[in-house]
Amino acid sequence: MSVENKVVVITGASSGIGEATAKLLASNGASVVLGARREERLSQISQDIINNGGKAAYRVTDVTDPEDLKALVALAKEKFGAIDVIYNNAGIMPTSPISALKTNEWNAMIDVNLKGVLNGVAAVMPDFTAQKHGQIITTSSVAGLKSFIGSGVYGATKFAVRNLMEVIRMESAQEQTNIRTATVYPAAINTELLQHITDKNAKQGMDKLYKSVGITPDAIARVVNFAIDQPEDVNINEFTVYPTKQG
Ligand SMILES: NC(=O)c1ccc[n+]([C@@H]2O[C@H](COP(=O)([O-])OP(=O)(O)OC[C@H]3O[C@@H](n4cnc5c(N)ncnc54)[C@H](OP(=O)(O)O)[C@@H]3O)[C@@H](O)[C@H]2O)c1
Repeated sequence: MSVENKVVVITGASSGIGEATAKLLASNGASVVLGARREERLSQISQDIINNGGKAAYRVTDVTDPEDLKALVALAKEKFGAIDVIYNNAGIMPTSPISALKTNEWNAMIDVNLKGVLNGVAAVMPDFTAQKHGQIITTSSVAGLKSFIGSGVYGATKFAVRNLMEVIRMESAQEQTNIRTATVYPAAINTELLQHITDKNAKQGMDKLYKSVGITPDAIARVVNFAIDQPEDVNINEFTVYPTKQG
């Protein structure tokens, strides 16, 4: 079973990487179920997909609420009859030095970037285990592979999901449930991600970097499509995606 005819739940689908991935997968015949908080965006993106001959549904979802993730997965089954893949992509990146003590932002990153992924995993695991088939894909970051100044907590959440995806893959092999996992480590991708940085210096630095080297989010959509498109006995574990201009 390739991308075509798969039912894929995508969080953080209202902009950037999630939106680009939803559109690409739908254009290749997947049924996509979009989750995020901004309803207007979700509605517009779903309509665009449907207008282009694709299959899409959406539900307003806050990934910090486990019940929202369960309802999003329930919608996929109700509307398209199955759940094959979840792409845990929702994330926030309000970077700052630890000394700035932006503790509310630390907690928000843990809630969205780590607990939000766990909520997605918990929402699909009963179906994936019972059907002995499924795929869990998560957007980490290059800040989940190496340390960057200003990314102490952001990087901690992204290192954490790397471990989570690998352990799920290993446990699935042990339990013979055929659950595939993949982790994506993007570098600078031009999206709305930088808009929520409140630390002036961090924002200036990031804006400068992204302006000079950033690439479009379809680069990530293509690797997610590739991971899903593999034969069911092939797990592509990881993708690191850099702009050629970024050192
Ligand atoms: N852009 C990059 O350079 C880059 C690099 C490495 C990793 N990443 C990761 O890529 C992922 C996607 O980010 P992006 O770059 O595409 O930025 P983006 O355009 O800001 O997209 C972030 C998405 O996450 C959603 N989101 C945020 N909080 C949420 C919540 N509580 N519940 C549900 N959805 C939530 C947003 O939707 P709503 O606001 O509508 O809820 C939005 O759809 C993130 O995990 C980010 O950490 C990005």
